[in-house]
Amino acid sequence: MPRDRPEPPPFEPEWLERSLNRYLAWGLVFMVLLLVGFVAYRVREPGLRRSATRAQTTSYTDIGHQTFSASCSQCHGKDASGGGSAPTLNSSQFLKSTTDAQIFSLVAGGVSGTEMPAWSLDYGGTFTDEQVRQVVTYLRSLEPRAPSVPGWRQSDKAK
Ligand code: HEC
Repeated sequence: MPRDRPEPPPFEPEWLERSLNRYLAWGLVFMVLLLVGFVAYRVREPGLRRSATRAQTTSYTDIGHQTFSASCSQCHGKDASGGGSAPTLNSSQFLKSTTDAQIFSLVAGGVSGTEMPAWSLDYGGTFTDEQVRQVVTYLRSLEPRAPSVPGWRQSDKAK
């Protein structure tokens, strides 16, 4: 009976191969977790952004309202409703025809040659850009329920 040829020793010992396979398997698991994580992030992100924007708008509106009551209402009327010496800002005609950027520069830079002061620190006022933006957000928040006040330039009140 011919003698069996001796088995050549395995190229890698068995324990090493098992160990490598374990590393490969865990590598796959982590790759899948990472991919799933990216997808989950992608799905959640727009919602998170929307609610962050909503929360910021709400808090800007509140703070802007306080700032307006403290600094603007003596001329522009309580809640921007006119009746003072300055234009009525809670007016659909004013708000519809004016962009946020325009309101921002009117408030920041004032209207020279009139009683309307410049509010931004950049123009010698006391407000940071953030505070001006808060006031703009407050005024913009009035738009959906703003009454028609065609005589807003004459500080008319809504009828
Ligand atoms: C001392 C009075 C006074 C105060 C205080 C004041 N304003 Fe005015 N504001 C005016 C007058 C007067 C005008 C009109 C200027 C003109 O003739 O174009 C005006 C104009 C404006 C306009 C442009 C309106 C338009 O029809 O062109 C905006 C917006 C405005 N003010 C926002 C504010 C805000 C916001 C504050 C507070 C941070 C403020 N104002 C504080 C007197 C004032």
